[in-house]
Amino acid sequence: GKVVLAYSGGLDTSCILRWLLDQNYDVICYMANIGQDEDFDAATTKATKIGASKVIVDDVRHSFVNDYVWPAIRAGLIYESRYLLGTSLARPCISVGLVKAALDNDAQFIAHGATGKGNDQVRFELSCYSLWPDVKIIAPWRIEEFTERFQGRSDLIKYASDNNIPVSATPKSPWSMDANLMHISYESGILENPNNEAPHDLFQMTVDPKKAPTDSFKLSIEFSKGVPVKVITQDAQVFNDALEIFTFLNKIGGKYGVGRTDIVENRFIGLKSRGVYETPGGYILYVAHTDLEVFCLDKEVYRVKQSLRDRLSDYVYNGFWFSPEGRFVFDCIALAEETVNGKVNLEIYKGNVTVLGRWSPVSLYNEDLVSMDKHSDFSPSDATGFINIQAIRLKEYNRFQKQQK
Ligand code: ARG
Ligand code: SIN
Repeated sequence: GKVVLAYSGGLDTSCILRWLLDQNYDVICYMANIGQDEDFDAATTKATKIGASKVIVDDVRHSFVNDYVWPAIRAGLIYESRYLLGTSLARPCISVGLVKAALDNDAQFIAHGATGKGNDQVRFELSCYSLWPDVKIIAPWRIEEFTERFQGRSDLIKYASDNNIPVSATPKSPWSMDANLMHISYESGILENPNNEAPHDLFQMTVDPKKAPTDSFKLSIEFSKGVPVKVITQDAQVFNDALEIFTFLNKIGGKYGVGRTDIVENRFIGLKSRGVYETPGGYILYVAHTDLEVFCLDKEVYRVKQSLRDRLSDYVYNGFWFSPEGRFVFDCIALAEETVNGKVNLEIYKGNVTVLGRWSPVSLYNEDLVSMDKHSDFSPSDATGFINIQAIRLKEYNRFQKQQK
């Protein structure tokens, strides 16, 4: 059979590649360029040398930003109040490429190197099944023959050297990393003890806020229908293209130490895991978008939208990007966001993102209505009635409590 393998160039997937060849599969390696810092030429050479019949490098960066990151920003997606879902968003995007590669090349199988304890296996597989119900998945880390043979990293290294697979000379960091345009995540290894502080040299996208510049940086972000469309900086730089906007925000956020977070989260399969994340551009956009949204949306629409947002964050985290419920909620939120238009002025300083002001052509904010200095078409005595009615229940509660004593 023919299999498309989600290949990273690393030790695990290189051994998986060789192992699949040993099982007599014809293997095509698929690599998505999703903005990670990777030498794709070197990885291509490596996969070819190991025996891949073909290596596909697919630049999906524009699609990742436009079709995954932007809808997530528009919806305000955030998992368990803190995780901006960088890895969760990448999986369905990569799955689209895997399925296309398989169909284009008449492969029946898709293989990946995600472990049996994580979220990624679920996300890859649910996305693939949803896009292509007939796909057959090979997950070596859940195959007994494979896991018995490779019980630890030393087994992988030995197998690699026995099979002429180059093992990178730089020692592997004692944690696992997943990088894309939106974030880098760090998990496992020395991070597994949730009480251990993350080492200072772990971070790659952001500087330590303490070491960030002593000046601040001002910029304004313009949104149309809840999606960022323009960034203007204090030094008059202007960005309009989605990928350029996001790349710039990552750069400036990284320089000022923005968007680090260290959490324990609940994985879909039910266990808790400790993760350290850096999401500089995503965090800046999250702050700006939240501000504009409350400014523009009707109060009750905002509340309904926020409860849908929490549901959708779970759907995305759990791997249900391509699902009826996901589609439905994304569409609902897009409808709500039609009036989230305008711009937010921000100041970035030593890891903080502060809102300085906001402007919208369609805000429901009415300066005359809220002003302390102006009369409106409701009178102060209306508020007395409003409070009296609200107080009925509270007075009854007080009477009831006294009775109980
Ligand atoms: N815990 C995060 C998530 O589930 C990050 C996962 C990182 N994946 C990885 N293969 N290192 O989205
Ligand atoms: C993995 O298990 O492959 C990484 C962690 C996760 O998917 O949650």
